[in-house]
Amino acid sequence: MDWGMKNRMSRIFKPETGRTVMLAVDHGYFLGPISKLENPKKTIEPLIPFTDALMLTRGILRNCVNHEFQIPIVLRVSGGNSIVGKELSNEEIITSVREAVRLNVCAVAFSIYVGAEFEHQTLVCLSKLIDECEDCGIPVLAVTAVGKELEKRDARYLSLACRIAAELGARFIKTYYCEDFEKVVESSPVPLVIAGGPKMDSEVDVLKIAFEAMSKGAKGVDFGRNIWQSSHPVAMINAIRSIVHEGANVEKAVEIFNKTKEGNI
Ligand code: 5RP
Repeated sequence: MDWGMKNRMSRIFKPETGRTVMLAVDHGYFLGPISKLENPKKTIEPLIPFTDALMLTRGILRNCVNHEFQIPIVLRVSGGNSIVGKELSNEEIITSVREAVRLNVCAVAFSIYVGAEFEHQTLVCLSKLIDECEDCGIPVLAVTAVGKELEKRDARYLSLACRIAAELGARFIKTYYCEDFEKVVESSPVPLVIAGGPKMDSEVDVLKIAFEAMSKGAKGVDFGRNIWQSSHPVAMINAIRSIVHEGANVEKAVEIFNKTKEGNI
């Protein structure tokens, strides 16, 4: 790995722990102004001090994030679909690598849809993006998207999707936590971070998933809705940080959640 690539990776995965707490706020690229992300600036700003890297699109970066923030950016560069369109897997590269360089990003993110109608298109686009990004020393994060088919999130499917992403050259992968998650980790030669998925009813369940994933070999989380749709987003991300970076168990993380919450943040 060249210096630029190593430096960008180490800005995302903190050298002290080799782990990361990423905050995903890219949802609008196909979901529009979903609940609690209607005003991205308002949602993002209080969470910045607790975030290792921010995942978002160029439009939200330019318009809603202060350029003076020293936060590493993971730029979503795939899209071209919408929640009301016919086929979610119909995504391509929507932002150039030149633009990513101009925006001084630490990585770019691209979704692949293994087994879906546009599987081939998304895998070929991922490979082309990786060719170009490797030239510039920019890591590519592959996202193993499942669209509306949440039941696809089992170890067999996710191992297949993660392994394909790694074989094509992704430097790290965003996937889902699932039963037998250690099998997904074993089958990928590059680090995995987990998505949170739709908002869960209980905050404790979110912390349990973060804990289980980290215990089974994940290198971090890239949560969105389960942080900023929580009634206490700062308490939530702070508790997650304790699991990822300090090795807290669920009990300890719940204690940290409650303490931060009592501080009314
Ligand atoms: C979809 C995505 C997202 O838009 C987002 O990053 C998911 O985050 P979460 O599921 O934690 O809300 O990557 O594939």
